[in-house]
Amino acid sequence: MTGFSSRVEAVSISGIREVFEAAGEDAINLGIGQPDFPTPEHARTAAIEAIEAGKTDAYTSNKGTLELREAIAEAYDRTYGLEVDPANAIATAGGSEALHLALEAHVDPGQEVLFPDPGFVSYDALTRLACGTPKPIGLREDLTMAPADVEAAITEDTAAFVVNSPANPTGAVQSEADMREFARIADEHDVLCISDEVYEHIVFEGEHRSPMEFASTDNVVVVSACSKTYSMTGWRLGWVIGSNRRIERMLRVHQYCQACASAPAQYAAEAALSGPQDCVAEMTEAFEGRRDFVLEGLADAGLEVPTPQGAFYVMPKVPEGWCDEVLERGVVVVPGEAFGANGEGYARLSYATSMDELEAALESIQAATAAVR
Ligand SMILES: Cc1ncc(COP(=O)(O)O)c(C=O)c1O
Repeated sequence: MTGFSSRVEAVSISGIREVFEAAGEDAINLGIGQPDFPTPEHARTAAIEAIEAGKTDAYTSNKGTLELREAIAEAYDRTYGLEVDPANAIATAGGSEALHLALEAHVDPGQEVLFPDPGFVSYDALTRLACGTPKPIGLREDLTMAPADVEAAITEDTAAFVVNSPANPTGAVQSEADMREFARIADEHDVLCISDEVYEHIVFEGEHRSPMEFASTDNVVVVSACSKTYSMTGWRLGWVIGSNRRIERMLRVHQYCQACASAPAQYAAEAALSGPQDCVAEMTEAFEGRRDFVLEGLADAGLEVPTPQGAFYVMPKVPEGWCDEVLERGVVVVPGEAFGANGEGYARLSYATSMDELEAALESIQAATAAVR
């Protein structure tokens, strides 16, 4: 008899989609997690030239082209002074596939995976698809994840914990001290730290540091992507970095489910990573201006919100019925519970949209807030 696997029955379509579907056509969408800028021209041109030159007619190496992996390695040297061997990176179909590889390769049925709650929707679902047991970790008042809370939750059944900084849905950035602690915990407890760094370059205050810089074992695997940094969500190009033995195991999964990342996207990514980086600074500056504008608008509405230091999200505490009231006024936001049980009483707003739209959205938000108070 045909049926469905229990692991696929254990996950459902992301709650974010339901919100989009409930919104009218003219709605202002503050629900979407993608930059509204065009992909930098040099990245687009590289893909077009590769296609015209027939360089995209074949599979690349399973790990991705050597040139792309060299560009990834160079970027880690440039940003973190980290020496990464191009052999220790796999180009993936976005950060999403990289997370999938990390969990598939390291989690046995029943083993626990710890992750922030509220946190990115994929951590729970991908853990379940890997037959693992999700173990959400509540956040501090400032919406960062406390290393002490992660350490306290580790048992002999823990396979991995996920760190995400800057974070979706909160915009929170973990301090360097926290990142050092996460590395120590991974080392001392012999548990894998999966560091999701897809927003690594979108930081307004301080700087993003990676636990990989501080670990003394190979117990940190880094996931990142071109998606947010270079406004390339549609290209589906990310990567995972890890030690030889970890990469070899993740490659087994990648080889059979993906073969290789899209070749045109690999050429675009190589150009994005190795070309001029001004576009990243320009986009980040624009996001920072929008963040300040949104924070001011939310404060005027009387909403309480910790200042997010990165990514392009803000997560205010909201009164009951707020999300529906805002949606009714034509603004899409995502209810906090879509990101985990601890997200209840919050909402996520993405400010990766134009200032004009943000201005109109904030007017509706102020009216909606007054209506539910
Ligand atoms: C924290 C986080 N990790 C990973 C991803 C997946 O990124 P990609 O679009 O590269 O698959 C996202 C996308 O929204 C994200 O917010």
